[in-house]
Amino acid sequence: MYEKFEKRAREILAGLSLKEKVGQLNQAVVAMEGDDIEKYKERVRRGEIGSVILCNSPTAGNDEQKAVLTDLLNEYQYCAVEESQSSIPMIYGRDVIHGHHTVYPIPLASACSFDPELVRDCYRCIAKEAATEGTHWTFSPMMDLCRDPRWGRIIEGLEEDPYLSSQMASAMVKGFQGDDLSDPYSLVACAKHYVGYGFSEGGRDYNRTEISDYTLYNYVLPPFRAAVEAGVGTVMSSFNDINGEPVTSSKKYLTAILRGQLGFEGFVVSDWYSVSQLKQQGLAENEADCTALALNAGLDMDMSDEHYAHTLEELVLSGRVSEEVLDRAVLRVLKIKLAKGLFERPYAQPHHVDRGEHIELCERLAAESMVLVKNEAGVLPLSKDQKISLGGPYIYERRCHHGSWALDGYLGASTPNFLEAVREVMGERGELFVTSEGLHDDSNYIFSLGDTVVLALGENYTDTGEARCRSNIGLYPQQLELAKRAKAQGKKTVGVVFCGRPLALENIEPYLDAILIAWHSGTRGAHAAARIIFGDYEPSGRCAVTFARKTGHIPLYYNVTATPREVDGYYGIRPSSSYVDSIGTPLYPFGYGLSYTKFKYSDILCENTEISMEALKKGEKLCFRVKVSNVGEREGVETVQLYIRDVKASMMRPLRELKAFERVIILPGEEKEIAFEIGKGSLGFYLADGSYTVEPGEFEIYIGENCLTHNKVTVKITDR
Ligand code: NOJ
Repeated sequence: MYEKFEKRAREILAGLSLKEKVGQLNQAVVAMEGDDIEKYKERVRRGEIGSVILCNSPTAGNDEQKAVLTDLLNEYQYCAVEESQSSIPMIYGRDVIHGHHTVYPIPLASACSFDPELVRDCYRCIAKEAATEGTHWTFSPMMDLCRDPRWGRIIEGLEEDPYLSSQMASAMVKGFQGDDLSDPYSLVACAKHYVGYGFSEGGRDYNRTEISDYTLYNYVLPPFRAAVEAGVGTVMSSFNDINGEPVTSSKKYLTAILRGQLGFEGFVVSDWYSVSQLKQQGLAENEADCTALALNAGLDMDMSDEHYAHTLEELVLSGRVSEEVLDRAVLRVLKIKLAKGLFERPYAQPHHVDRGEHIELCERLAAESMVLVKNEAGVLPLSKDQKISLGGPYIYERRCHHGSWALDGYLGASTPNFLEAVREVMGERGELFVTSEGLHDDSNYIFSLGDTVVLALGENYTDTGEARCRSNIGLYPQQLELAKRAKAQGKKTVGVVFCGRPLALENIEPYLDAILIAWHSGTRGAHAAARIIFGDYEPSGRCAVTFARKTGHIPLYYNVTATPREVDGYYGIRPSSSYVDSIGTPLYPFGYGLSYTKFKYSDILCENTEISMEALKKGEKLCFRVKVSNVGEREGVETVQLYIRDVKASMMRPLRELKAFERVIILPGEEKEIAFEIGKGSLGFYLADGSYTVEPGEFEIYIGENCLTHNKVTVKITDR
């Protein structure tokens, strides 16, 4: 994909001095107001900085970040293009993770939409807003498969299923990069954190990981593979080690697998300071060791710690790093700069971007991401004519909706808080009683006034993101107390939960008649939630992650293998694979989510229940059809999900694996037929050496509303 830039990149490389080559691999932290800007410009003129990271702290997602100053960036670029010997433009990178001025739902929430096309369109809008102001490259999407919601960074991921994560990763890359990377409205995407960071032990950030190759190939790598296939320009290496081997210095992960097996052609950037952290990890003694280990392993660009800048020249002169290795890395960087069109258009041309469509799409994605997980006796949707009491810690909060990693989000009128959103959606019709800000001393009285109590619950964004892990993922006690008070008034109570992880809701669940998981859903999060509870929008999100009942049940994920005791111990259903002191099943399983209507599934229709290995190899597929009818009174959106189980194989295979899904709108009384084709790419798995195999034998195919469906048909792959 980037091969076509090879020739020109080589010509440029041939004209570079050793110093200039080293500069291309150095990503320096931006100098802003208050820093020595003249000194920084001098460094650019000397060719010491090939890339600039536009943030000013190691945990940018939760710290205040200075805004991007486009004019200053253009001044720096002028020093590179017009005043340096090599004239090579710099590439500017920033954490534009799930939005720029318009903020979209956190990636975990977006995955719950099961709508990759909409996600792609939204990420296109994000690219446009950020690129206009001078950013060329975003450090997104993150695709760390995660099974531990204590880990704060779960908000940024696409969660526990490799197939869904792959679909979303690919959509995000395509959205950011567009059809043409050189389009001024495109951003170079970055698949991160490669690899295994989501397995941080104990859900503590930056921790070690143990990942077998079998698990790596089948669960952790697929979204990276999908991102590479979508043409992702860059990859960020992860902080963690895998089985004692830091990824930063691993030839196995950075070269043999990433380049050799996944076929990645772009360049690899380190994470913040991760080159220097080889010292803490006990593999290097000094800066030079760090540089030699990382570059020799295949890590092309050094983010922020400037170890390459300080030591690489000397290492090449002494022969510890060969010029060939250096050239290889520089070529990769140059090819992406060429592909981005930086040589033709090095400067940003700031102009007004109309955010109207962006805000509309943002509201749509927010609404599609929210998951209705409980709706006893149809308490939702609420009538707008009734009296509503509103309480909970998130009725006045605005910033929380943007979530972590929203560096540039506008907090103006387009981001209402929940109170404003409810007021707007209800209009003049009903009556609203609202608890005061703070400790809610008046809550008993306020709750006594309404027909229904609506509580805005959850966790703040400051409890999520990088280095923000929690050892208890339940709701804070004050929130449970509020729900109890509402119930004590004998009122129907609705919980709208704004959160960045699948919180353990076991304690509060009995006190709530309805629960909407509204996530941190961005600029339009509060508004979309209000419109769902009043029935303007149909709830349609599905859990992209399992909700455990309590923290002690972690890890709990759906795509597990059988226990040797009993196959139906699946997901903790049987006591012997569970706990003596609690029910070990999930509160809400993967794929689960309610609608305001009801759907009925037919049996699975399958003309051919046998296929030969030979036919599969030729590309033939099995076809499955199912009829889904809307048996309720309202229009609804169903996400039809297909799972497989390879009954007998040479390795243990998961009891359910998602392999296809489709979102369909179905009118009341209407029946729709959904067809899925399943071929070789869905029926096999990776062995520990990375080779892909499909084995003959029986397969169970499930099609239904979530991973616990019993709607099943058995098919067979015959030997020949
Ligand atoms: C550290 C984070 O791990 C990474 O995701 C981010 O892109 C960099 N810092 C830059 O802010």
